[in-house]
Amino acid sequence: MTETLILPETQDRAKCYQALIPQIEVLIQGEDDLIASLANTAAGLFQGLNVLWAGFYLVKHDELVLGPFQGPIACTRIKQGQGVCGQSWAQRKTIIVDNVDDFPGHIACSSASKSEIVVPIIVQNQVVGVLDIDSIHFQNFSDIDRVALEDLNRVLSTKF
Ligand code: SME
Repeated sequence: MTETLILPETQDRAKCYQALIPQIEVLIQGEDDLIASLANTAAGLFQGLNVLWAGFYLVKHDELVLGPFQGPIACTRIKQGQGVCGQSWAQRKTIIVDNVDDFPGHIACSSASKSEIVVPIIVQNQVVGVLDIDSIHFQNFSDIDRVALEDLNRVLSTKF
């Protein structure tokens, strides 16, 4: 197994994903343990995208429960419909928030977070978890992130 990720010295997200995603896919290839796969994915995204927080919440009964992540400590449980994560779960779609202060009900785990993207993981039409990435910059996520992370989540969905 590789010990370090090889990452381009650029802020260009498309180039970051181009380098990063294949390396994450190799890392989780052949690993059937869910937590191990999510943990290395969170670490890869955190390091490769230079963000404040990258991690997963997993659906357990009627809540999202904090899963593997990298970054500051975070709230552990989120109800369906609550915050960006709970809305992504309820609507079964990716949500990009340019300015968290403009999102009604946003859950501020860290006051340093200014924008975020939440991407659901879907198995047999059911949301089984969400990937959440937070940035200290406003408007830090776009369709480039959405497309790359939805593709990545399709790979991760096979681990559930
Ligand atoms: N901001 C999220 C909560 C999770 S933390 O950002 C890690 C939300 O509103 O759902």
